[in-house]
Amino acid sequence: MTVQQTTLKIHTNSPAETQALATALGRRLQIGDFIALCGPLGAGKTCFVQGLGTGLEVAGRITSPTFIIMRHHSGPVPLCHADAYRISTTQELEEAGLTEMAEQSVLALEWAEKVSEIWPDELWIVSIEYDKSGRSIELIGRGRRPAAIIGELKDAYSGD
Ligand SMILES: Nc1ncnc2c1ncn2[C@@H]1O[C@H](COP(=O)(O)OP(=O)(O)OP(=O)(O)O)[C@@H](O)[C@H]1O
Ligand SMILES: [Mg+2]
Repeated sequence: MTVQQTTLKIHTNSPAETQALATALGRRLQIGDFIALCGPLGAGKTCFVQGLGTGLEVAGRITSPTFIIMRHHSGPVPLCHADAYRISTTQELEEAGLTEMAEQSVLALEWAEKVSEIWPDELWIVSIEYDKSGRSIELIGRGRRPAAIIGELKDAYSGD
């Protein structure tokens, strides 16, 4: 069985452009959705999650959860913002309560490439790379609904 997958690649010239893209995605998310954020230090993963938070209309300022592993933001669709940078085993994420949080909110996980064994079958993979003065962002929607939503974003961004 082949898994449905849609990819959108975009170059952003500023944090605001990265956030605007993330906000468009955030508006379309619902409880249980999993966003795997990949890319090197300072790529813009937290910046992207800030945009997601705007789209989800969650409360509280979104800052890096590196040192606390996980932070919850309440809202109409709550957001769990997690970071695998400092963890060495997936058990540490489990102990922090990640599984329960993932069932009750949108989960945005930074450094997700470190723990790809916990990725669900259906998810969004956001890979951010340095690209000249800005960033290159690849959004993959894997599974029927994620692929459809990336398709919508593609339509919205075509002509850019
Ligand atoms: N096009 C862009 N998109 C996103 N961030 C950008 C862009 N151009 C410059 N920046 C800057 O890059 C930095 C990204 O920082 P951010 O904390 O989001 O990265 P990160 O990937 O979460 O890093 P870490 O691996 O430490 O968690 C910010 O200082 C932001 O202003
Ligand atoms: Mg970060």
